[in-house]
Amino acid sequence: MEKRGPGHNTAAELKNRRCIIDTVPGLVVEVDRSHTILLANKDAHDRWPSVVEGVTRFHELFFPGENIPEKCVVRRTLELERAQSAEIKTKDGGVFKVKTNYVPGIPGETPVKVVANIVDITDRVELEKQLEAVSRQHHDQLLQADKMISLGILASGMAHEINNPNNSIMLNVSVLQKAWNSVIPILNEFHRESGDLMVGGMKYERMKKKMPSLFSGMLESSKKIQRIVNDLKYFSGKDLISLKNPVDIESVVKSAISLTGNMIHKSTRHFKAVYEKNLPNVMGNFQNLEQVIINLVQNACQALENPGNGIFITITYDRNNREIVVSVKDEGVGIASGDLKYIQEPFFTSRRSSGGTGLGLYVSTKIISDHHGTIHFFSTPGEGTTVEVRLPALDQHAAGPALHGPGFPR
Ligand SMILES: Nc1ncnc2c1ncn2[C@@H]1O[C@H](COP(=O)(O)OP(=O)(O)O)[C@@H](O)[C@H]1O
Ligand SMILES: [Mg+2]
Repeated sequence: MEKRGPGHNTAAELKNRRCIIDTVPGLVVEVDRSHTILLANKDAHDRWPSVVEGVTRFHELFFPGENIPEKCVVRRTLELERAQSAEIKTKDGGVFKVKTNYVPGIPGETPVKVVANIVDITDRVELEKQLEAVSRQHHDQLLQADKMISLGILASGMAHEINNPNNSIMLNVSVLQKAWNSVIPILNEFHRESGDLMVGGMKYERMKKKMPSLFSGMLESSKKIQRIVNDLKYFSGKDLISLKNPVDIESVVKSAISLTGNMIHKSTRHFKAVYEKNLPNVMGNFQNLEQVIINLVQNACQALENPGNGIFITITYDRNNREIVVSVKDEGVGIASGDLKYIQEPFFTSRRSSGGTGLGLYVSTKIISDHHGTIHFFSTPGEGTTVEVRLPALDQHAAGPALHGPGFPR
């Protein structure tokens, strides 16, 4: 019979224990008081081929070259003399679940030991993280979609509520303007006779000079509201329109320029629009395309820092790709490269404090894509921006008469 001494195992006993731990699922190691691995099962040897029984220490499996950590699970097991569990995270992202048990040993015969069962859960944790990210993203998307639907309903209601009173303001302003013009001769007469005529707390002479700009200011503001309402209507998707009319793009651009005339006039002394001759029509909706050009012109005007900078519009025909190309170029502040990817998103605006809604480019992009076209932005901060809209040209022979105004063949 083999002799046993304290802390020593007979070869037969070792073999027996190895047979047992080899059958245990997972990575199993036996560790002595000095944290040295006495025995490792086959799976543990496969997982850590560098393990040398009797030499390698437990913590070196996870933290090679380092000292025993303060919160080492083996240390805790030895101190508390009972089973412990822990999760070990390595520096390279590995995650291990460890369960230990305290083996008291037999005094004078077998030493105290710790048995540790280790499960590598790195892949599981990684998978869980990915699943969590996917589910968070999914949840965010649903929330976003939900928000957009609610916003659409809100926008459509608001557009409707604002549109009616705004229309009546627009109509009334022109009625008032006419009324004012017609009473001017009477007031002139009265003023000549009585001398000291006050109107609305202001001297008549002064008021008479101010009145035209008051009327045009009201009309401009009303038009601005109308443009916002139009963007809101398209945003909410309630503005069901036909996209099946042949449209003369030159008329679209001219009409947009005339509607934004005042704004252009105030923003720049250098405005030029050049149209190639005999342009083919495009298929679509006059008013919606006009809305796009108005949005682009408005953005161009707002980007200019002084009236010495210009705005240039061109319409050309790209024969190779059979596309009408509308380009709106400004010499304004430009778009920061970090902002370029956001400008077409709904509600993105760098002009929130000055009344920007962030809907203009979102709606314009939607309109152009509904027309099977494309819209691209080229911008150099400090130098300016060019927006290029491309629309498929209509086969001239196949098309009917083009629309030259909102719904009216010329
Ligand atoms: N021509 C331009 N020059 C500089 N920045 C522009 C131009 N056009 C658009 N942008 C940027 O894109 C943002 C979004 O534009 P838009 O959707 O029309 O919203 P809004 O005009 O209400 O801010 C603007 O706030 C601005 O930062
Ligand atoms: Mg805008």
